[in-house]
Amino acid sequence: MDTAFIAQSGKLGSLQEYGALMSHAEVVRPTHLRTLFATDPTRASWLCFEGAGMRVDHSRQRIDRGGLRLLFALARARGVEARRDAMWRGERINITEDRSVLHVALRAARGTKILVDGRDVVADVHEVLDRMAAFSRRVRDGSWVGWTGKRIRAVVNIGIGGSDLGPAMAALALRPWSDRSIAMRFVSNVDGDDFAEQTADLDPESTLFIVASKTFTTLETMTNATTAREWSLGTLKDPRSVAKHFVAVSTNGSEVSKFGIDTANMFGFWDWVGGRYSMDSSIGLSTMIAIGPEQFDEMLAGFREMDDHFRTAPLEQNLPVIQGLLGIWNRNFLGFPTLAVVPYSHLFSRFPAYLQQLEMESNGKFVCLDGSRVTWETCPVVWGETGTNSQHAYFQMLHQGSSIVPMDLIGFRTPAHSVEGHQPLLMANILAQAQALSFGRTSDEVRKDGCEERLVAARTFEGNRPISVFMQSAPGPRALGRMVAMYEHKVFTQGVIWGIDSFDQWGVELGKKLAVHIAPDLEPGSKSTPAHDPATNAWIHWLRES
Ligand code: F6P
Repeated sequence: MDTAFIAQSGKLGSLQEYGALMSHAEVVRPTHLRTLFATDPTRASWLCFEGAGMRVDHSRQRIDRGGLRLLFALARARGVEARRDAMWRGERINITEDRSVLHVALRAARGTKILVDGRDVVADVHEVLDRMAAFSRRVRDGSWVGWTGKRIRAVVNIGIGGSDLGPAMAALALRPWSDRSIAMRFVSNVDGDDFAEQTADLDPESTLFIVASKTFTTLETMTNATTAREWSLGTLKDPRSVAKHFVAVSTNGSEVSKFGIDTANMFGFWDWVGGRYSMDSSIGLSTMIAIGPEQFDEMLAGFREMDDHFRTAPLEQNLPVIQGLLGIWNRNFLGFPTLAVVPYSHLFSRFPAYLQQLEMESNGKFVCLDGSRVTWETCPVVWGETGTNSQHAYFQMLHQGSSIVPMDLIGFRTPAHSVEGHQPLLMANILAQAQALSFGRTSDEVRKDGCEERLVAARTFEGNRPISVFMQSAPGPRALGRMVAMYEHKVFTQGVIWGIDSFDQWGVELGKKLAVHIAPDLEPGSKSTPAHDPATNAWIHWLRES
């Protein structure tokens, strides 16, 4: 355990580099992006970065050369590179859970070595990937059949959080690369409507359930899995049919057996993979069935491309590091509390939801590694929805609202579809929004357009909204891998600077415990005397009456 690093974790606020950035922010804050561009038009090139197949334009961030230099100095002072290397060495950088953090091993090339307690985990990863590939091929080519001999036509992933959001997001993002003869469904919510709706049109004889849970104890997942087993057996009757219609993805073999799934049909992963960092582990089994093992490999290659870039590029050219630092600038020095992520790609419509868990479960923490409370802000609220849809919904607030929201705009130069006439309009919209949000429209410009005086104020755009544009040549498995890895490493960079543990999630425990405590009082016919707080007791009485 790196005790020196832990001891420093609570001292961000007293670093000289932090103070220098605070002072610099006072100078930059009143400066409009129009002025920044007017005094230095070359920022359109020096704030544009390329790497790992991605082009990233940060020129519309409210930063100057001096500010960026100070941010790199902060990254060095916080030891971002050393922590990154410690992660790759398999050190137990998840301090509160005393675990290694090795999602990068999930996509390490066959034959490379990463040791955890003397064991080569890359070999283990490839052993599981090979089993996944063999199984996926059988489902795809029809040689894996259901209990009554029918071909599998629907795969239902039952999981929640990291065991749902990544696969569900990927299922949409990779739809054009998927076998469309197999329906992909995702059940996550303990609300029975989720299970009921997702299975309403499915045939138990041709449905395969993947029960995906790292712990195999998560209330929602186990409730849905039990319901699925009843639903399946309702038609198939014979308990032996479970072996043909249920597989598990988990780190917990004994719970998998207890549930009744043969561990021969279990695909494992390891405690050094956080749930929200697991979509490229066996948690991605549904993804592999959808797109096939070769395209899954292509996705892993995309992850690896970004990993290599993050591990080797100097900080000054390192995409995730720069993205993380600019996020810190916006959050800690300019004081913006949220980040909107807007993919200009319908395929990426679930990407903002996926990022919410990745960013907010990782960095939504107020405790430093040394146990002290942060005296600086940490993770912003991450939210978003696809463009252009969101332009006709919440963009009004982004353009003229009283709060400033930094934004990540994500796009692809060439689309997956061949529908004519749409792509130029989509690209025009991403550029137009970036322009409008950053430069705005002054009242003089509005007047020049002939606007009547009483409407000038309402039609003025202040601009000066910080925007980053992320562009890749085309969507697809490789592009998805790069994009997810970039955000993973951005989150890592920010967590190191904030001095927090980006890999635990203690904040979700309390609610889970309380729900288990409250549930018996809400069982039908329960006559117990609720012994919770007065507000909860009152609700329990009300729910029982209705
Ligand atoms: O409750 C939060 C959480 O633990 C997430 O971190 C995780 O991704 C999710 O629940 C699901 O957990 P599991 O895969 O163990 O069912």
